Amino acid sequence: MTARLMILNGPNLNLLGIREPEIYGSGTLDDIEELCAETAAKHALEIDFRQSNHEGDLVDWIQDARDGFAALIINPAAYTHTSIALHDALKTVSIPIIEVHISNPKEREAFRHQSYVGLVATHTIAGRGASGYAEAIEIAAKLI
Ligand code: DQA
Repeated sequence: MTARLMILNGPNLNLLGIREPEIYGSGTLDDIEELCAETAAKHALEIDFRQSNHEGDLVDWIQDARDGFAALIINPAAYTHTSIALHDALKTVSIPIIEVHISNPKEREAFRHQSYVGLVATHTIAGRGASGYAEAIEIAAKLI
């Protein structure tokens, strides 16, 4: 069976391309999904790519990743810095967890310096733009 990667995206990432392009670039989330699908295909991996503005959806999907997925890639967006619920859900997952940020939160406002997700992630990639997602898939491919 082809190994599958769960790729989750948090709030406001549906507005990539429109939202603060000077920080996040002009590409859309659809462009990122295409990049992920192409990168995964090179490693004979499949992706399940999802986005939600709702914390509970992300908790449910992290729980879904516990079954039938080889790795979890997540850009939790603003929930990175606030969500103990995502942190706790991620602690129940035994597959590799790769945290991705398009920008580098550690070089931005102080309130972005704390990551509750980073505390439980296997790897964190930040500040590499959309290509950070491709890097995350490359890392996942090595780990699984
Ligand atoms: C982000 C960084 C977060 O601080 C921010 O809230 C986002 C996007 C990133 O991809 O750079 O929404 O996760």
